[in-house]
Formats: sequence, C-alpha cells, structure tokens
Amino acid sequence: MCGIIGYIGQKKISPILINGLKKLEYRGYDSAGICVLENGGLTIIKKTGRIEELAKSPELKNVNGAIGIAHTRWATHGEPNEQNAHPHLDCEQKIAIVHNGIIENYQALRELLIKEGHKISSETDSEVLAHLIEKFYKGDLLKAVKETLALVDGAYGMAVIHKDQDKIVVARKGSPLIIGVGEGEMFVASDVPAILEHTKKVIYLNDDEIAVIGQNDYQITNLAGEKLDNKIEEIKWSVEQMEKKGYKHFMLKEIFEQPESISNTLRGRIKDGKIKLSIDFDIKEIKKIVITACGTSWHSALIGKYLLESIAEISTEVDYASEFRYRQPIVTKNDLAIVISQSGETADTLAALREAKQRGAKSLGIINVVGSTISREVDSGIYLHAGPEIGVASTKAFTSQVVALLLLTLYIRQEKGIALDKELLEDLADIPEKIDQALHRAEEVKEIAQKFKDIKNFLYLGRGLNFPVALEGALKLKEISYIHAEGYPAAEIKHGPIALIDENMPVVFIATKNSLSEKIISNMEEVKARQGVVIALVSDSDERIEKIADYIIKVPEVRNELSAIVNSIPLQLLAYYIADLRGLDVDKPRNLAKSVTVE
Ligand code: G6P
Repeated sequence: MCGIIGYIGQKKISPILINGLKKLEYRGYDSAGICVLENGGLTIIKKTGRIEELAKSPELKNVNGAIGIAHTRWATHGEPNEQNAHPHLDCEQKIAIVHNGIIENYQALRELLIKEGHKISSETDSEVLAHLIEKFYKGDLLKAVKETLALVDGAYGMAVIHKDQDKIVVARKGSPLIIGVGEGEMFVASDVPAILEHTKKVIYLNDDEIAVIGQNDYQITNLAGEKLDNKIEEIKWSVEQMEKKGYKHFMLKEIFEQPESISNTLRGRIKDGKIKLSIDFDIKEIKKIVITACGTSWHSALIGKYLLESIAEISTEVDYASEFRYRQPIVTKNDLAIVISQSGETADTLAALREAKQRGAKSLGIINVVGSTISREVDSGIYLHAGPEIGVASTKAFTSQVVALLLLTLYIRQEKGIALDKELLEDLADIPEKIDQALHRAEEVKEIAQKFKDIKNFLYLGRGLNFPVALEGALKLKEISYIHAEGYPAAEIKHGPIALIDENMPVVFIATKNSLSEKIISNMEEVKARQGVVIALVSDSDERIEKIADYIIKVPEVRNELSAIVNSIPLQLLAYYIADLRGLDVDKPRNLAKSVTVE
C-alpha cells in the first residue's frame, strides 16, 4: 500500500507533491510527508492523518527546491504517527527515502545497523532502507541503492534522494512505480492520477528495475546494470475523468456511471452474433478454470463460476487469492487461471497468478487499470475499460467484471463450437439501458436507507447467482457504513443465522424472478414467521412478494444470467445512502485502502 510521488524540475514543488499525494490518497491515508532538497540540505515535513493535514502546515509555504519526494502512508509496521510517516532519513540527514511495500527481513537488517551504530528512529520496516543506503554510499547513489537492494527481501516501490545529488533514484519490486516524462521536468509516482495534470507520457517500471531520473533525462537498468529501453506510453484518461463531476462522492458518481462503464466493457466485443476477444491461446483445450481474486473481485468470481459452469460447461473453482497462494493447489498445464482485479496491483492476486503460472497453467486477467502489474504478467487479458475508480468501495468495476466474465463465458462456449443464444447476446447489449432504469429508482432506495440508517445488523440473502450478489451487498454496507452485515445463501439460514432474526435485524432478500423464486419466497416466509423485517429486491412485474415483504425495491426484469448485474445497483445505492446519511466519509472509509499492495 502507500502512495509515492517525486518531482524534479523548475516549478514550485510543494503544490505538485501535495496535489499528487491527494490523487494517491486512495492508496492509504493515515499519515503523509514530503522531503525537498533546498539550500544544500533536506527539508522534511510530516503529519499524521489525511493529506489535508500536511497541506495545511505553515512550513510548507516556504519550501522551495527543485527535487522532492512525498508519501501517503497506510500503516503496516508501526502505528500511524509522525515518527513512522515517510520520508525516512539516514543518521546524517543526507538521504531521504519513500517506500511502498514490506521489507520482510527488516528485523535482521535493523539489528545489524544498530550494531554498526545507526540510530533507527521509527518502528517501520522502511527506515532500514535509508540507513543501508547511508552505509553503502560513497558518492554514487545508484550503486548504494543497488547494494542495499541486494540485502533486502520483500516488496518495494521506492524513491531516494541525496542532498548532494541532483537526481532521484527509484526501484521497483512488487509495488508499482511509474516515471512521468515532462518538458524539462520529470515525475515518479505509484500511479498515473498523481501526475496526470502534468504529463500523459508514462513509463512503467517492471520488477527488479531501477532508474536514475534527472531533470531532463532518465536511465533505466536492471539490477545487473544492463540498460533497458522501456517504452513511453501515452495515457488516455483525462484529468476530468478523474474528478467528481458534481456528485457528492466519487462512489455515487461511479454508481451512476455504470450504464457508460458497462457500455465501454461491451464495446466492440459483440459483433454479428459473435463474441470478439483477443485471447492468445486455444481456450477450447482448457479442462478446468480456477479463478482467484480478493474482496469485491472475489464476489464477481463467484458469479463467474455460475456462468462458466452453466453456459460454457466448464468446471470452475473460485478461491481467495490469499488462500490459493499458500495451499498446494492442483493446477496443471491444461487449466486456466483467471485473476480478477480492479487495480491489477493486489499483492495476493499477483502472487496467486505467479503461483498458477509456475504450475504451468495458462493465465488470463480481468483487469481495469491498463498497464498494471497483473495486466502485464498474464498471458492474455480482458480490460474492463470502466475508467478510473476512486471510491474505495468498488462499484462500477464490479459490474464490469461480471460483464467481462459473461463475455468470456460466451466466448468459451463459442470456441467449443456450441451455439450461442442470440437473445442472450441482444439482452446483454441492452444491459446499460436496464442499469439506467434501475438508477432512476435511487430516490426510493434513499427513503428505505433513511428508515434503516441506525440499525446495527443486516442480513443479505440470495440463491444461485444472487448469493454472491448478497455477499457483495453486505460487503458494500459494512465497508462504508460500519454496520455489521452478513451475506448468506438463503436456504442456509436454517442452519444458524435464523437464530438471530428479530425485529432489529432487517433481512434484504435478493428475490428477482428466476427458477428458484418459489424457494426464496419460502425462505422469506420463514423470516416473517419470526418477526423479521424483510426488504425485498423484486422484478418489476412481481406482485406476489409485495404481500409478504415490508419494503420493496423494484428492479427492471432481466433474464437470470444478467440479474446479478442489475440487482447489484440498488444494493450499492442502499449502502451508499445509509453511509452518507450517517455522515461518514464514503470515499475513504476507515482502515481501508483502494489498492492493497501488501499481503
Ligand atoms: C481492496 C478494495 C476493494 C477491492 C479489493 C480487491 O480491499 O478496498 O474494493 O475489491 O481490494 O482489489 P482489486 O483491485 O484486486 O480488485
């Protein structure tokens, strides 16, 4: 986790660093700091809390230098306080580093450094980097960084400056890092939004690459010192796309963007009754699929399993990436490992991908962020094209993931030579319109949110495809409103959760029409018989459930295969409105981060 930005150039440096950090706040936001080389020394300012605390500090006004690095932190080692905030300095305050990742052998390195007389002043794993560079520095910063990295186990995206050097040295292993190329100025950052207002020309560093950046040039090498020629990529996202467009929160904007984001996911991929995807291997030879992901992406994976098994007729397993990577999974060269990740940077998902590849599996990524690490390591991929997602709670990326999974499912079926259902293709192409209709009912959802905003526990129930939808609905609510919520397969409540039912435990049923409708109505009756309060998500034309449920949320009627996409919309809205009515920071919920680049 954590966000890094660095600048070398002639413009006023503090606004560049602070604004860059603000754009990276989604990567963590418990403390922040900057370090600028000025008047032959290093000026350092650090604050606990959000970037705004740092931005407000009076010392910032006087900062004036041509080289600087800055960091927003999400604590892994040591509590969030000024001491533990980055940048970290060496003993003589000549070297400053910012680091994203985890140095796994930091304890041993720390002891070694202390024995050699270094004074370590924070509890972080990162600070050892500054002291190791100090230990090895003999006038050549690049050399000292390389010697340091040779001793380090773990993950890093790091940037280093030295008071006697007019350059920034950066290195990457396991944590993302980009170089931004400007006119007479250069940038480094963890992610594109941090520098987009200054340049659209970006170079992605790969693992085990190190770069020396001057005001007008850069040189990238591998750890062996061989020069590399990474290409400059042109970023297509605009600054405006990154902004809130008048919505109160990014999350609300992203919920309302879904007709567009889904259209973008579909664009050019259904043509003349066929699915067009560019997959570089023979997918019909695949015997089994294993999908790994984390968080919301794991929920879309569960929906993918239903689709892949029922439509593409292929055996599919779903695993949390964090579990998959450490068990001994049975994955062979005949299998396909699908990794799903909005950011393309989630550490566990990346590790699961590497594990599956190492076992010989083919790999395919379903990723939103173009150029992200996972997207570069998979054999083939499907980009979501959902646009930047800034709200920590994922919304539009989730529905685009489900759409991408459905496209993939249909593609596999097609490649196996089984006929596609033409109507399903047409209905899929129409789904943005259905989403739009679902969004038109936002005010009705808000009224329900008003009634339930002070409740302490919620249960979400669904069956079939709507079971993962229930899981995702519950996750949305707990992430941003801090209300305890559980998702369950509706029939399973008899085996435990039914004991919790009373008038203080509202139950959200995802009960749109499908072959299991009768069964879910029975589950609803079971809840009502125990004085439970039922909020039911029902298809437009369904009048039966209105008689049983206490509150009704109607959604446009769609076929079962598409229901997960449409049904997710009111659940996202319900979570959003409850959190907003409770006065919470919806886009930056406590303890969470958008991109989890540590395990
Ligand atoms: C974090 C985010 C979630 C996201 C999960 C996986 O926990 O807060 O919204 O679902 O990471 O992220 P990914 O980028 O891999 O989809």
